[in-house]
Amino acid sequence: MHWNETIGTLLAELGFVTRTGKSTANAVIKRPFAVVTGASSGIGYELARCCATNGYDLLVVADDANLDEAAAQLHKCGAHVESVEADLAIHRGVDAVFEAIDGREVDALLASAGHGPGRSFLEQDFDDVQHLIDSNITGTLDLVQRIARRMQARGSGRILVTGSIAGFTPGSYQAVYNGTKAFVDSFAFALRNELKDSGVTVTCLMPGATETDFLERADLLDTRLGTQKKADPADVAKRGFTAMIDGEGEVVPGWMTRMRAAMAMIAPSSALAERHRKAAEPETARPLAPT
Ligand SMILES: NC(=O)c1ccc[n+]([C@@H]2O[C@H](COP(=O)([O-])OP(=O)(O)OC[C@H]3O[C@@H](n4cnc5c(N)ncnc54)[C@H](OP(=O)(O)O)[C@@H]3O)[C@@H](O)[C@H]2O)c1
Repeated sequence: MHWNETIGTLLAELGFVTRTGKSTANAVIKRPFAVVTGASSGIGYELARCCATNGYDLLVVADDANLDEAAAQLHKCGAHVESVEADLAIHRGVDAVFEAIDGREVDALLASAGHGPGRSFLEQDFDDVQHLIDSNITGTLDLVQRIARRMQARGSGRILVTGSIAGFTPGSYQAVYNGTKAFVDSFAFALRNELKDSGVTVTCLMPGATETDFLERADLLDTRLGTQKKADPADVAKRGFTAMIDGEGEVVPGWMTRMRAAMAMIAPSSALAERHRKAAEPETARPLAPT
């Protein structure tokens, strides 16, 4: 289905317009409203761009000054864009997002904020470990719960959570990150089931390695993971956005990523951990076989 049709269908479902695109007699025509976390760069930025080019107004969230530049670019796509600079790893950060929503109906929540430091677990500073868990899990769940409760009460809404195929694999040299993504993937499937028949859909986007700032921030550029060919974040986001609009449960973008995900379902955990070690152990950087 073409995106314009898709958004038309969504708008009709939400009661803003008829399926022919004309406004209903009593309905106030308004643009749908999306909250996108992690929107300052990478997959989250591209998800926000998909929303903007498909008629959504936006509240975008990240924890750095790049967010303003991202918001300015998104505004050029025709969306009304508000930004909230907040650390989602702390309750105050999630409070700030909720306050900025200010009681408005959120039609779509795209929770993509996350990070994933590499190196061995014993070398990692525990404050960083805590921040990782609080960003990827606690902050995500807190925001999803607050927004999903309202969606459930009114019987409509779309939620997209960015998990990862990392959640299928014990992540040697990225052990905590992969654990957080196993949690997020599992949580998204469970929440989707709890909300079935409620009018609220939950979609789990599970990318493989994607060309963003993620691996540099993770200090993984001297690893095979850091140097292998990666997916285009715009392609990943388009697949995720379309799946969200269509109300699909899960999406693994890219056939090679789907192959990896399928392998992870059948291979023993010890073999998967060893494979991840070869990809993420420091100073393993060398060209891999084409992906
Ligand atoms: N790139 C990959 O290979 C890959 C693969 C699978 C899944 N993913 C997942 O995709 C999502 C997006 O990552 P990306 O690849 O697009 O990386 P990215 O370019 O580094 O973007 C990460 C985004 O999350 C935000 N963020 C992280 N921690 C935050 C916090 N505590 N509070 C507020 N914002 C926070 C960052 O904002 P700040 O700059 O303000 O921190 C940034 O906007 C993550 O959940 C990641 O786990 C990535």
